[in-house]
Amino acid sequence: MTVLHEVVEVSRSVEEVFAYISDFTTTEEWDSTARSARKLSPGAIAQGTQFEVVCALPVGSVTLLYTLERLDENALIVLNGRCAFFEVRDTITLTSTATGTLIDYRAEFQFKPLISGIAALSSKGLQSMGRESVAGLAAALEDNYSLQKTSRFTRVADRLVLPGVTMFSRLGYTRGRKHFNPMSASVKSKHMLITGASSGLGYAAALELAGRGAQLTLVMRNQQKAEDTVADIQRETGNSEIRYEIADLSLMSDVDALVARMKQRGQPLDVLINNAGALFNSRAETDEGFEQSFALLLLSPYRLTEGLKPLLAKAASPRVVNVVSGGMYSQKLEVEALQMPDTSDYSGSVAYARQKRALMVLTQEWAKEWAEAGIAVNAMHPGWADTPGVREALPQFRKLTRRVLRSAAEGADTIVWLAVATEADEATGELFLDREVRPVHLLGSTREEPRERAQLMTLLQGLSSRLDKAPR
Ligand SMILES: NC(=O)c1ccc[n+]([C@@H]2O[C@H](COP(=O)([O-])OP(=O)(O)OC[C@H]3O[C@@H](n4cnc5c(N)ncnc54)[C@H](OP(=O)(O)O)[C@@H]3O)[C@@H](O)[C@H]2O)c1
Repeated sequence: MTVLHEVVEVSRSVEEVFAYISDFTTTEEWDSTARSARKLSPGAIAQGTQFEVVCALPVGSVTLLYTLERLDENALIVLNGRCAFFEVRDTITLTSTATGTLIDYRAEFQFKPLISGIAALSSKGLQSMGRESVAGLAAALEDNYSLQKTSRFTRVADRLVLPGVTMFSRLGYTRGRKHFNPMSASVKSKHMLITGASSGLGYAAALELAGRGAQLTLVMRNQQKAEDTVADIQRETGNSEIRYEIADLSLMSDVDALVARMKQRGQPLDVLINNAGALFNSRAETDEGFEQSFALLLLSPYRLTEGLKPLLAKAASPRVVNVVSGGMYSQKLEVEALQMPDTSDYSGSVAYARQKRALMVLTQEWAKEWAEAGIAVNAMHPGWADTPGVREALPQFRKLTRRVLRSAAEGADTIVWLAVATEADEATGELFLDREVRPVHLLGSTREEPRERAQLMTLLQGLSSRLDKAPR
């Protein structure tokens, strides 16, 4: 048997350390040999929960099946891992100290007879791997990361536009992921609202945030989908702190009613994620007389966010995350053309991209205005992710790009990061892709004048005050 034994102290509460390690999927954040990890068992993490961890070997990789054998709350975690070559038993004992938590990590390896000789020879290598992993765990828990500087590669790719755009594919995510910091911040007491959580990126973000223990309000427009979504996420994560609210967000009457219900509840809002969206290939107006992409993609997040501002202001470190799109890179802010007229020129993609460009400008304006109130407002774009929205609105694009599209979870990763990561608090008014600040323009021709930005704010404020005064 080969035994690795390390002891470290971290300045985090024993509750947070226990929660972070017992979700063994976090191993991919701190163990340098772990390439990926996923939870196999549905429900809350408990004795018997299984995880699959793919670890790198000097040549190739090996897949380990881990089972949580024992879980004594805030005290002891015992995991048994098996693969074709060895069995490993990890015993992690936690002790609360005056300044944090002492972690005693013991890993006992039993190698299969055929490779036990090789293992004995590489015992030194194993010991140093063990030390490195526990040091990685301690660093992840210390959580002293800074916002990453945009890499040189990304800056050059963006300047060349086309290579920049290829980064929207899975390629970009795979590249970006290599530089991701661990995310050990606890969100257990955080209340987050996500719009459009019934499918695609919104669902993926909700699932991940629920797994991390956040208190969620999911906004959806269809009662049956809402019930199914909440039931699915609760079954997968065991998180019971998930509620839903019904609203058709293209209708301002529904947005206002939602705001009123949230205010009635009065719960501070730590994170607001404006994600709901759609690309409409034909032009239509809502019953309230707004062009539908303008209503859903711009006026709705404007009114919702302004309406929920008092609840955001009640939270300790509030954040707003606006989901925009790489499509906006093709459009300049054209305030007068936001509600595209009903002409033969109508293009769903252009209408969509214009609202996303305007939402980006709004993100920057809010960031400035709300800095004093301590509300961080950022935008992200997910790249190209394979979601029901893309399948329905852009079937040809999907056919061409299917092999390189990101999964919904990969597309939603930066939403989750902006909601959770400690270092994300350093940013406001920025645009992110793959946890990296990205330029708001790739082409000089899309830059707007300050006068046009002011015009956008005047338009939205004007429409909003008209709605406030309208009889209901
Ligand atoms: N996927 C991508 O590659 C990509 C790229 C760039 C930007 N985005 C942006 O990412 C966000 C999510 O898109 P997705 O790809 O995940 O699309 P999706 O799978 O179609 O999900 C969109 C979500 O928005 C909801 N929604 C649509 N209209 C609504 C309305 N009137 N009221 C309330 N909810 C409404 C949908 O509800 P239903 O289930 O009821 O339809 C669904 O939950 C959007 O803002 C989109 O513009 C996506």
